[in-house]
Amino acid sequence: MIYNMDCIEGAKQFIADASVDLIITDPPYNLGFAGTTQTRNKKPRFNIIANDRLSPREYQRFTFQWLYQAYRVLKPGRHIYVCIDWRMYPFMALWMRRVGFVIKNVIVWDKVQMGLGYQYRFQHEFIIFAVKGEKKARQIRTRSATDVWRVPKIPGNKTIHPTEKPSELMDRMILNSSEDRELVADFFSGSGPVAEAVIKQGRRLIAFEVDPMWYEVSRERIERTIQTITSQKD
Ligand SMILES: C[S@@+](CC[C@H](N)C(=O)[O-])C[C@H]1O[C@@H](n2cnc3c(N)ncnc32)[C@H](O)[C@@H]1O
Repeated sequence: MIYNMDCIEGAKQFIADASVDLIITDPPYNLGFAGTTQTRNKKPRFNIIANDRLSPREYQRFTFQWLYQAYRVLKPGRHIYVCIDWRMYPFMALWMRRVGFVIKNVIVWDKVQMGLGYQYRFQHEFIIFAVKGEKKARQIRTRSATDVWRVPKIPGNKTIHPTEKPSELMDRMILNSSEDRELVADFFSGSGPVAEAVIKQGRRLIAFEVDPMWYEVSRERIERTIQTITSQKD
């Protein structure tokens, strides 16, 4: 299930308290980002994503609101993964703790290929791994996983969304932190990598995307994934 709406309103309307088994999400980082690739006329290929150019105060308010909803809907002891980069990590970590999450670790996503930057080129992002409540905290389902993940990023000219993440990253989070048929929520779907992984791994999805264009991209991806799985079973 994916809704074309603001995740804060959507969570209030459609998700009951303590009903979600896992949250995986990639929120706007408030960096005014429209991707790194350009058209032939040197124009950015994408528009800046929604809620990515707010004043610091507005961004803090927005982030607190969705984090509060994320905390409310997650079952006690269950996991949340939040993508973020080094510039916004201190704020996100502080705000996650303020709403009640206990941060257990930070995964370093090594994108394998280098990106932009000139004082050392960017090749990593962070994924904050946290739980709701220390006492009943679940263990991840493997003892051999480390906190550095080497997963190639999608090359700039192949991306369909300015901040696109590979679905393989999401597979790892889903397999490590949920069971068959459990409910996984994504508040910021974008092009739908979480949705694809959730369906492939046999979990149930609730997702939100405020931008009609990205909503449509996610919805079509969900349909394609379901079709592929159905045809494999036939
Ligand atoms: C960082 S991107 C996610 C990209 C995604 N991980 C992917 O690989 O395609 C954040 C997405 O959240 C959406 N968004 C921003 N504010 C939102 C809100 N209040 N509710 C739901 N979606 C929102 C943006 O339109 C954008 O597509």
